[in-house]
Amino acid sequence: MKTILITGGAGFIGSHVVRLFVNKYPDYNIINLDKLTYAGNLENLKDIESKPNYVFEKIDIVDAEAVNKLFNKYTFDGVIHLAAESHVDRSILNPLEFIMTNVVGTVNLLNAAKESWKDNYNGKLFYHVSTDEVYGSLGETGFFTEETAYDPRSPYSSSKASSDHFVRAYENTYHLPVIISNCSNNYGSFQFPEKLIPLFINNIKNNKSLPVYGKGDYTRDWLFVEDHAAAIDVIFHKGKLGETYNIGGFNEWQNIDLIKLLCSIMDKKLNRAEGTSEQLITYVKDRPGHDKRYAIDATKLNRELGWQPSLQFEEGLEKTVDWYLNNEDWLKHVTSGEYLNYYKNQYELT
Ligand code: NAD
Ligand code: DAU
Repeated sequence: MKTILITGGAGFIGSHVVRLFVNKYPDYNIINLDKLTYAGNLENLKDIESKPNYVFEKIDIVDAEAVNKLFNKYTFDGVIHLAAESHVDRSILNPLEFIMTNVVGTVNLLNAAKESWKDNYNGKLFYHVSTDEVYGSLGETGFFTEETAYDPRSPYSSSKASSDHFVRAYENTYHLPVIISNCSNNYGSFQFPEKLIPLFINNIKNNKSLPVYGKGDYTRDWLFVEDHAAAIDVIFHKGKLGETYNIGGFNEWQNIDLIKLLCSIMDKKLNRAEGTSEQLITYVKDRPGHDKRYAIDATKLNRELGWQPSLQFEEGLEKTVDWYLNNEDWLKHVTSGEYLNYYKNQYELT
């Protein structure tokens, strides 16, 4: 029987990781730590919440005392750390919040793990889930490999890079057993509709304009969220201590091409004439410091641990659209309250 701490398990990717581990490993105790910020939602875990191997703990990782108490309450064999402030636009509005959760929060967890495991690191693992954005921005060609030098350029990516550095520092200084993975853009069910794909699905559904930053000629590498969760599972169980693994979809799209594909899927699903949703496209002021292109070289993970993405993008995107159209209540709940203030501030006051 293993006891695993998953942080940020009520968020988008975290909820998929919690679901996978609770269902796949009935002999593990899965403890989900989450503060339940605007992005954390226990509705994401309704299908597994009453399973005997699942426990939820509402904790803010910035609160060191609360984190230490949790590590005294349970004896963790492993930590999978996903809790973070994750939206680039919000980091531009409020960098400090990102430093607190992503940097201070991560160091609080590292301290608690170090203290709790100090007598014997055997079999323990602190697995830190990070992003490809720490590597900066690419030109027209090339890929991020595990050897690419860090060059974060937004408050979000700087805070994630800083947390990665602290994880490495704890490995080097205190020999804490760690692994880091850096993943590209995820999409799929339960993603908060501030991120491109769910935001645009929701806006198309409600006939609202689609705010394309700049000329829409930025490129991202998209991965289905369940494939990311599967990669995390493989890395957690088979990854080599001290290693970094890049995770990506081998699936680059310029924003405007992706948006046109999404519009065409939505037209079909909503029985609207082809071309209807594209008329909602509105070019707006660019994101400050907008990174041009991200592209991950995930061959190490494929070669060493056998992982590869399971879905073609068109299939994953259609599945995602279906999920949002079939889960209206979820979408309604998360787009009320604080969301309306955020939306006004980000898109309507400028
Ligand atoms: P998310 O914003 O959907 O979820 C983050 C979760 O963390 C939420 O449940 C939130 O309540 C929780 N949280 C935030 N602050 C907290 C705090 N102080 N204490 C405890 N819990 C707190 O994020 P996501 O998109 O699921 O990303 C999860 C992780 O994966 C992050 O570390 C992110 O940097 C990384 N990542 C995300 C992507 C992506 O495309 N979304 C890609 C690569 C890496
Ligand atoms: O690369 C991994 C990262 O991907 C993760 O670490 C982040 O947590 C995650 O949020 C994501 O960051 P991006 O900034 O790439 O994702 P976002 O969905 O915000 O934007 C995707 C692209 O779409 C980006 O070029 C900006 C553009 N965009 C986004 C929004 C929200 C628009 O043109 N209009 C918008 O309204």
